[in-house]
Amino acid sequence: MTTIALLPGDGIGSEILDGPVAWLRQLERDGAPVRLTGPWPYGSTGWRETGSTLPAETIAACREADVILSGSVGAHPGISPADCPNPEAALIRLRHLFDLRVSVRTVLVPGADDVIIVRNITGGAYAGPDQRVESDGLQPAVDRVVLEPARVREIFEIAAEHARAHPGRRAISVDKASVFATSRLWRRVAAEASAASGVTFTSVNVDRAAYELVRHEELPGVIVTEGIFGDILSDIVCARAGSPALCGSATINPDHPLGSGVSALFEPAHGTSPHRTGTRRSNPVGAWLALADLFAWCPDLAALGLAGRIRRAIEVAFMTSPPTYDLAAPGAATADMDEFNQHVLASFAAEEPR
Ligand code: IPM
Ligand code: MN
Repeated sequence: MTTIALLPGDGIGSEILDGPVAWLRQLERDGAPVRLTGPWPYGSTGWRETGSTLPAETIAACREADVILSGSVGAHPGISPADCPNPEAALIRLRHLFDLRVSVRTVLVPGADDVIIVRNITGGAYAGPDQRVESDGLQPAVDRVVLEPARVREIFEIAAEHARAHPGRRAISVDKASVFATSRLWRRVAAEASAASGVTFTSVNVDRAAYELVRHEELPGVIVTEGIFGDILSDIVCARAGSPALCGSATINPDHPLGSGVSALFEPAHGTSPHRTGTRRSNPVGAWLALADLFAWCPDLAALGLAGRIRRAIEVAFMTSPPTYDLAAPGAATADMDEFNQHVLASFAAEEPR
């Protein structure tokens, strides 16, 4: 049995999960080994409900669950950033609490192959508060960036698995070795990993990588990089794909601990778009991609073989549905979120289990 804690988050975060959550609840009613708990308060809306962006009841629910399915956290209509200044800290705290230290993002590029971005999401530039000194406006602010060699090796092992699953595609390791000691370590590990794993990781400076991702027709299959570089480059890859909505994000503890709280968090990686909240026009592909990742990660659910079916249903929906507004040509017909979800569900139902 897999227990999923649902943390809907803010802005469009919550509505974007409606399709996958309705589908999961049906699966639960049909007797599949899955249980959904929540929705649990989280982010700006969690703060409005409880006074905290990550209340104790939500943390307790994550301790009782195997994985988290969440919507984006951030700005929410009617909640002033002056009152709730940093709702994203709730996500960062969850990563640290459950040692969800590696981020694996899948960007669906219409008409081309996926791009996978693997990065550290705790440590490095994403260190916790112990590596930061806030400034009072007079004293310097400090962010210490520390990378443990063993952690970098672990990231390359995960990246190598993904590269093997995408043979023939380029795998690049991105750093800024001319400036950072942490990047020189990164580059050394990239060379070691290339020798040991049989996958060639080509080292590229981050500025050049940004240029090539915008400029070169063919995108790499795998990008492995330090947390903050990956944060920026994953948005560039989404721009190439056509929309920030085309990214599913998995934040994992590679030890895959079972029975000791959540081992991973799955979310669509776009922002909360407060001005679009309630319009139900947003593109739900990232939420479906996140769901497919969740089904591949949890052993009970992986055994059902649904991850590939969800993924194929998304592809078919692209062909059968008008595009959502973000991908439509000016003046062209569009599908809203619920209509696009119907196409995913219809494609899923039409497909014979493989
Ligand atoms: C993302 C976001 C987060 C990150 C923020 C909200 C902390 O930008 O998921 O890409 O930087 O990881
Ligand atoms: Mn980001």
